[in-house]
Amino acid sequence: MKSMMKGFASAMALTVGLTAHAQAADVEVLHWWTSGGEAAALNVLKEDLATKSIGWVDMPVAGGGGEAAMTALRARVTAGDPPTAVQMLGFDIQDWAAEGALGNLDDVAAAEGWDAVIPEALQRFSKYDGHWIAAPVNVHSTNWVWINKAALDAAGGKAPETWEELVAVLDAMKANGITPLGHGGQPWQDATVFDGIVLGMGTDFYKAAFIDLDPAALGGEQMAEAFNRLMKLRTYVDDNFSGRDWNLASAMVINGEAGMQMMGDWAKGEFLKAGKVPGADFVCIRFPGSQGAVTFNSDQFAMFNVTGDDKIAAQKAMASAIESPTFQSAFNVVKGSVPARTDVSNEAFDDCGKKGMADLAEAAGSGKLMGSMAHGHAAPAAVKNATYDVITAAFNGEYADGAAAAAALAEAVAAAQ
Ligand code: GAL
Repeated sequence: MKSMMKGFASAMALTVGLTAHAQAADVEVLHWWTSGGEAAALNVLKEDLATKSIGWVDMPVAGGGGEAAMTALRARVTAGDPPTAVQMLGFDIQDWAAEGALGNLDDVAAAEGWDAVIPEALQRFSKYDGHWIAAPVNVHSTNWVWINKAALDAAGGKAPETWEELVAVLDAMKANGITPLGHGGQPWQDATVFDGIVLGMGTDFYKAAFIDLDPAALGGEQMAEAFNRLMKLRTYVDDNFSGRDWNLASAMVINGEAGMQMMGDWAKGEFLKAGKVPGADFVCIRFPGSQGAVTFNSDQFAMFNVTGDDKIAAQKAMASAIESPTFQSAFNVVKGSVPARTDVSNEAFDDCGKKGMADLAEAAGSGKLMGSMAHGHAAPAAVKNATYDVITAAFNGEYADGAAAAAALAEAVAAAQ
């Protein structure tokens, strides 16, 4: 109680301090939240900031996974005009911090006790050299499968728990005349599917390959099998998959044209936006074989070095608003993700959200919480991009078999380091 009061008192002092010294400016926010579900969640943030008199200048750069946004960011920083706050993932935050481009949120973090409530796995990316440089807004995870409930019922009704069961359900969906797998052929989406396949073959294998970058794991027999599975999944997509945006693949599952999508829980935002209810209209399961483990990615707002006390005050006010427990609940309920703090109630979350929160806690406790390779939380961008190239080539049938793809992966990752 005493420490809560102390935290409250210093938070008040901080707010008062900010108001006394500098009127907060607008925030200019670079992000890639442009799909229906993402925009709905972004609105929760915009509206929350508006209640605190923080104005919003929008800089959306469309493109799931954020690659295009990161290119736009580089151009802005090179021109000497960085945005106030930037949606960013994992190792990208660390790279920008290493370049000395980011500001410092230590005083807000200390006043609000972030160290105690933001999980270590996120702090590893929110802090650089011991200083807070970014404010985590959520925790997403990538090893999910979103299944149309009616299509699953028509395919026997049992959610698959193993790779073999997954293949059986996909076959049944094919026989029923729908596209079994809704997918968009973009490198980051291919890689998101691969996160699930590899994690489904074991957390030790996932860690050895994507986090430790062990050449034996990257180029070995298990990886050959992972690529064989990826190539098998390729046989369940429709003819028009190439280049399709992820939210259009979600829409195929929502309207029953496709049976399932293997995608992070931002997909749930699309189902909710379409008025669909978990359990009744769609089913959320962990990628078969990966139950109990989680590949996570956390969207964080990295604060750039800006000049002007009013701009710095706006960054701090935005960071403080983002970490508020009430906001964490309201935002993540809409986004499909789970809170970036451990002390937020799961009460407002639907069944998939409750499962997401429980899975995250369980995986963190058992050493099965892994950074997502596909979403920049396993290795820096150069390695990630080299991995993407091989995965996409494999998905598109450019290797004779899984073994050839695995050999290419080990080589590509070695060259990228
Ligand atoms: C992820 C991001 C999510 C979602 C997704 C699709 O990288 O963490 O918030 O936006 O891309 O755009």
